[in-house]
Amino acid sequence: MSEDRRIALVTGGSRGIGRAVCVRLARMGMRVGINFVSRPEAAEETLRLVREAGSEGFLAPFDVADTVAVQDRIKAILDQEGRIDVLINNAGITRDGLMARMAEADWDAVLNTNLKSAFLCSKAVMRTMMKQKWGRIIHIASVVGCMGNAGQVNYAAAKAGLTGLAKSMARELASRGVTVNCIAPGFIVTDMTAALPAEVQDSLKAQIPLGMLGTPDDVAAAVAFLASEDSRYITGQTLHVNGGMFMP
Ligand code: NAI
Repeated sequence: MSEDRRIALVTGGSRGIGRAVCVRLARMGMRVGINFVSRPEAAEETLRLVREAGSEGFLAPFDVADTVAVQDRIKAILDQEGRIDVLINNAGITRDGLMARMAEADWDAVLNTNLKSAFLCSKAVMRTMMKQKWGRIIHIASVVGCMGNAGQVNYAAAKAGLTGLAKSMARELASRGVTVNCIAPGFIVTDMTAALPAEVQDSLKAQIPLGMLGTPDDVAAAVAFLASEDSRYITGQTLHVNGGMFMP
């Protein structure tokens, strides 16, 4: 199947990294489903940018941590579109705090939104990918899942979990032509990092060999590669997009 007829679903596609991924996949000619849970006007803007990039898209609002919503909404998309060829598990949240003071609810929210969501969404799309013997599933992990980070035990555990999930899924799905990989961004300028004070951002830059924070487009370029035919011999891997701050 040629790339320009593919259908992609990007969770958390309304802003930040997810928006850049939607636009990049649209530039490859894919029809893009934009998932989000809040700020519908941001999702509308992503859809506008997808169209400006020369493709088409559709909005897919649902909470990726809600089992029933994921099953129902992805089934509806499959009924409407016929299939999903590319799934980008990008939706994520943080609820930071030192572990000694971390509420169980903050652990659960971050694990459910960042890790369980990838299990749920992947499970909902994998049968159709297996049947057509082609699929790309990409989880957006984080450098923090590899290095750890004080104040982020929940987030780091969820992101490390994504790499184990990807490796095991890769082994289960390889014979059916479906590849599963992770991208682990370092510090990328989005709403999630904009909240960091300027001095924290400066100290982060000092730890990055390339001397700058990344952009959502830097991550989207890596996603585009792993979503393309060019990556057909790559599965179960984690691609680090971090300016050199962590070298596994
Ligand atoms: P962001 O906060 O700008 O956007 C998050 C997106 O996820 C939004 O579209 C939001 O609507 C969606 N979302 C949140 N909870 C959801 C839910 N329950 N159901 C459906 N959608 C939901 O975040 P950003 O920075 O663009 O991050 C995207 C991904 O990249 C996240 O998984 C994040 O952990 C990861 N990441 C970000 C880094 C950064 O420096 N910004 C670094 C490493 C990883």
